[in-house]
This record gives sequence, C-alpha cells and structure tokens, in this order.
Amino acid sequence: MLDTRCWILVVQYNKIIMFRFNFILVLSLFLSTVSYAEEGMVIKLPEPKEKGKVSLEETIKRRRSERTLSEKALTIDQISQLLWACQGITDGSRGFRSAPSAGATFPLEVYILSPDGLFHYLPQTHSLRRLKDKDLREELSRACYGQGFVKDAGIDIVITADFKRTTSSYGKRGENYVYIEIGHAAENVHLQAISEGLGSVPVGAFSDDRVKKLLNLPEDLVPIYIIPVGYVE
Ligand SMILES: Cc1cc2nc3c(=O)[nH]c(=O)nc-3n(C[C@H](O)[C@H](O)[C@H](O)COP(=O)(O)O)c2cc1C
Repeated sequence: MLDTRCWILVVQYNKIIMFRFNFILVLSLFLSTVSYAEEGMVIKLPEPKEKGKVSLEETIKRRRSERTLSEKALTIDQISQLLWACQGITDGSRGFRSAPSAGATFPLEVYILSPDGLFHYLPQTHSLRRLKDKDLREELSRACYGQGFVKDAGIDIVITADFKRTTSSYGKRGENYVYIEIGHAAENVHLQAISEGLGSVPVGAFSDDRVKKLLNLPEDLVPIYIIPVGYVE
C-alpha cells in the first residue's frame, strides 16, 4: 500500500517537473522569437494578386508624376503588390522576375522606407528584412534636396544596383543595361500604383552619397532611382 502511494507521488512529482520544463522551453522559444524580431526580422509578404481592377491601357493613360501625396499609411497588401511589380519572381522554376534583366544577371536590390522603418526586399521568398525600426523618410527627403513628397509618401521605394553583376558579363556596355533594367522595374511600380488606387513620382534628383549613407548600403550598391508612393490628396 505504502509502495503504491510512493509510486503515485513520484509520478505526480515527475509531471510537475515536466510541466515546468515544458513551460520554460515554450517561454525561452517565445523570447528567442522576440529578440530575433528585433534584429533583422524577416516579414513574409502576402501573396500578390495576379488580376487587377484597372486595365493596362487605363494605367498607362492615368500614370502621372504625383507630388501631393498624403501621409496615409499603405497596407501590407499594397506594399506586397508594389514590390512584386518591381522585382517579384514571376517564373519560379528559373527565378525570372517581373522586369527583364540583361542575361538574367539581376543587378537590382530594392529597399523601402516606411513609417515602420527601413526594409530590404527579398524576391526569392517575397519577404522584407527589417534593417532599422526608425522612420527615415524625412532624412531621405533632405537627401533629395528637400523634395517634400519624399517625406509625405506612404512608402519610398529605393532601387539600387550592383553594376558588377552585369558588367562582369557585358563589360562597360553592361552599365547601360543596368539603367535600362531599372527603367523597366520602375515603370512597373508606377503602373501598379495606379492599379492600387495610389500615385507615385520618379525621383532622380538626390545625393548618391547621402542616400547610400542613410540606408547604410553595402559598398557595391549604388542608389539610382527613388519612387515615393502614396494616396493622392
Ligand atoms: C529620370 C527621371 C528623373 C526624375 N526626377 C524627378 C525628381 O527628382 N523630382 C520630380 O519631382 N520629378 C522627377 N521626374 C519626373 C518628371 O519631372 C516628370 O516625369 C515630367 O515632368 C513629366 O510628367 P509626367 O511624369 O506626369 O508625365 C523625373 C523623371 C525622370 C524620367
């Protein structure tokens, strides 16, 4: 009888130990996720739509450089759609993207600045890596010689290029190819913005050095094209 009671106590004791162990395990897993979130968290973007409500012809007709952008935040779906249009993977088997690329050398890297911080777009997983949690739009506006809509826009898309990825195959001529490619990617964004009920404006007037420093870009990346996107007031 006494043996049986002892056995029951041992089992209950073990259950308490196991419960504590599981609790600590779950808690430590939760805490490790939180600290991961703070350091370079990767955010999976929603799947982009493949059908829109506005015809291609209408988006071309309605595209204008819009400079009166409201501060209203964009949704994660709109951001997903704009980035997909810019550099999303549209042929998964070959890794080909929404914009053509000379020799499929893919020299472009895309960043966005939003009220939530600075993010790097990862086409392979259609996700964003958070680089900074500070709103840098005002500083970006100053690097664009005070162009106010850069600060007001829901997001600023910064298209950068690593020229070597293309010039290593095509020599000096590869530089032209990179600029052509950026034009393709940027126009996709301008047209996608219209389709999402938004407006955008091309920005080429900025200090390369100041933008590079603000975004803390790797040595090889050059900022070429900035696209503020937002609701038109
Ligand atoms: C390469 C390039 C750079 C540009 N840079 C700026 C810029 O820094 N700021 C700006 O307000 N508009 C800029 N624009 C937009 C032009 O001013 C605009 O396209 C032009 O006035 C025609 O108007 P639309 O785009 O509405 O057709 C740029 C356009 C291009 C193609």
